[in-house]
Amino acid sequence: MTTMDATLLLGGPVDHAARLPWPFPDDLEQFRYWVTVVRARPGRATAAGGWGDTIVDLGGSEYPEIMAERRRIVAADPGRRRVMPGMEPACWDLLLYYLRDLALSFPQLMELHEDGDRFHWRNHVLGTDQAFVLGDASSLPTDPLTFLACEIPDDLLLVRQRHGGLHFDAGLVTFAAAWSVSFDVGMSMAEIHGPVPRLNAEQITSRAERFLTNLPADQVYRRANWTLSASGSRKLDVSLEELPEWGRDIPLLVREGNWGALQLRIEIEHFIRLPMTGAVTFNIRTHMASLEQIKTIPAWRDQLARVVLELPEDLATYKGFVDYREPAMAWLTDGRA
Ligand code: HEM
Repeated sequence: MTTMDATLLLGGPVDHAARLPWPFPDDLEQFRYWVTVVRARPGRATAAGGWGDTIVDLGGSEYPEIMAERRRIVAADPGRRRVMPGMEPACWDLLLYYLRDLALSFPQLMELHEDGDRFHWRNHVLGTDQAFVLGDASSLPTDPLTFLACEIPDDLLLVRQRHGGLHFDAGLVTFAAAWSVSFDVGMSMAEIHGPVPRLNAEQITSRAERFLTNLPADQVYRRANWTLSASGSRKLDVSLEELPEWGRDIPLLVREGNWGALQLRIEIEHFIRLPMTGAVTFNIRTHMASLEQIKTIPAWRDQLARVVLELPEDLATYKGFVDYREPAMAWLTDGRA
């Protein structure tokens, strides 16, 4: 199969809304922070289609573009990869888990051949053709975390148990929503979630930590997170490292009142206990949909406006939209909200 044939198999951009992982249950009226984790499969139906049949969402015809952006950032800023001492085996574990999963989920596009500790990976969409020996860093062109990050759209985060708690000890993150992997790596769950209102005080962090500590090895879970982003649909990288690039997007959008371009930013996080090392993943796949797109689906339009307008001030401030949520939601609902 040629790379072009494989790209055709990915499907067209027309199904963007149909595949969007809408982050709210149908009957949700008010949003608060909870430990809402659900089994990862099967998929979920939404008002516009459905999503979530596979752990990795390649993104249809957007996949090559997302991966080009990931590869650009990784090359320009090696600091997006942070691995604490002793985490290399977990990175190999993560690589093998995902390559196996991809080959099973997308057999027309990707293949993994195994022979003992020797592997051969082919990704017909991106043109990757790589033999490697598990655990032998010299057999890959890069380290295993970087290799995987250049094949799948998810940001990769690994958590391990040490000193009586879970710590974020390795990651390769290019699409963080206003946080920084190099700042957060090595932190405990309570330290990471310190800036988030209510989380530690309402024992959400400790419940989340209990859930992750007891995560079974044979079940994959996921969770959705969301916010609004004034940066365009193609600006996935709104990490703190890039603040000078996107910091002016909000004042500009507010000044122009260009509410249709405002993005709902949805993060689907997968929790997987890796089979060889027991490390736990918190991999984040980021999706965007503009208010203009959301406006075309009445159930989504009305629910988003309700949730955003009802959100308590401290949460709306943390999420960054407290100052502009009213005019934005008035545009979305043509003043009916
Ligand atoms: C069930 C487990 C977890 C729950 C329920 C949870 C919950 C949350 C919530 C509610 C937020 C605020 C997001 C927003 O409103 O935009 C948040 C932020 C965040 N979480 Fe978690 N989380 C969990 C696990 C983790 C893990 C394992 C990691 C790291 C490996 C992590 C890293 C982060 C980071 C980096 C932020 C951004 C913090 C900042 O603004 O500086 N979370 N989390």
